[in-house]
Amino acid sequence: MKVLVTGASGLLGWDIADAFQAAGHTVKRLLGRRDVNILDTKAVADCVSSFAPDLVVHAAGYRDLDDMEQHPHEGYAINTLGTWNMTLACRATNCKLIYISSDTVFDGEKTDGYHEFDTPCPVNVYGKSKLAAEQVIRSLWEKHFIVRTALLFGYKGHRENSFIFHIVDELTAGRSISASEDQICCPSYTADLAKALVELGQTEWYGTYHLTNSGTASRCDISRAVARLAGLDPEMVKPAKASSTKIARRAKNTVFRSLAWPAAFGYELPPWEEALERCWKESQEQEASTP
Ligand SMILES: NC(=O)c1ccc[n+]([C@@H]2O[C@H](COP(=O)([O-])OP(=O)(O)OC[C@H]3O[C@@H](n4cnc5c(N)ncnc54)[C@H](OP(=O)(O)O)[C@@H]3O)[C@@H](O)[C@H]2O)c1
Repeated sequence: MKVLVTGASGLLGWDIADAFQAAGHTVKRLLGRRDVNILDTKAVADCVSSFAPDLVVHAAGYRDLDDMEQHPHEGYAINTLGTWNMTLACRATNCKLIYISSDTVFDGEKTDGYHEFDTPCPVNVYGKSKLAAEQVIRSLWEKHFIVRTALLFGYKGHRENSFIFHIVDELTAGRSISASEDQICCPSYTADLAKALVELGQTEWYGTYHLTNSGTASRCDISRAVARLAGLDPEMVKPAKASSTKIARRAKNTVFRSLAWPAAFGYELPPWEEALERCWKESQEQEASTP
């Protein structure tokens, strides 16, 4: 297949491009604005039609929740208008589209896990812009997969975008950090998600999927797990309330209980603890091999 990946300089997009390439597909990476600005309708249309992909994986997006709460116009432009442009281009080229959406489309009030058929109700601008993007796709182009995921960890892309490196850098410098203990979700390793997307993109099982590693955690749990893996003191991660320090409202419990993925593919992604350990090991191997 010919696969076009947007946001390929990002935490997730990088792994997606690597995973499709490793599986033998021909991959074109749009690294970001420097290649094509997804806000430019004509530039997006020209880029997609000239490459003529079989599949676009649209992983470009804007995810600074607090900044977006103060600048909603920018959030809607990148997340929603950008997705509209990409969807029109996919329709014109008759290619499949995978869109990366988020657990933030839910309000976090459900206690037994969200499945794909639950009604979204976002509580912040980021979640609203992602939900609006989903609606644009559903209304315009049938050959789509909407994949909602949550709290991504990985080590590729811009270092400052990886919360793993942020935690390690702060604790190594002797600074303690606070991480919310009242916000629970299913964390996900970008490499595991990317491999699953390769499988998904080869099917025609269009629709909406909730896809994360298995198990649940708060930001505090996962930050302490990172500290342990890095040989640092987990007690330097101080539990906090999400609402106390943040501008955008946070949904409390966006744990997924997926129906579609296990039904279609017959398995679940590994537990996040195991995935985090793998991720840490791989990141260290990469750092050791970088001159
Ligand atoms: N990270 C998470 O925890 C998480 C959880 C759930 C869902 N998601 C979703 O997953 C997707 C990928 O997230 P990520 O964490 O990989 O994000 P990221 O590391 O911040 O990367 C975002 C990518 O989008 C590109 N981009 C931003 N604005 C653009 C524009 N106007 N035109 C073209 N490219 C643009 C960026 O490139 P430049 O900045 O170089 O332009 C970068 O390559 C997003 O849609 C996000 O909403 C993320």
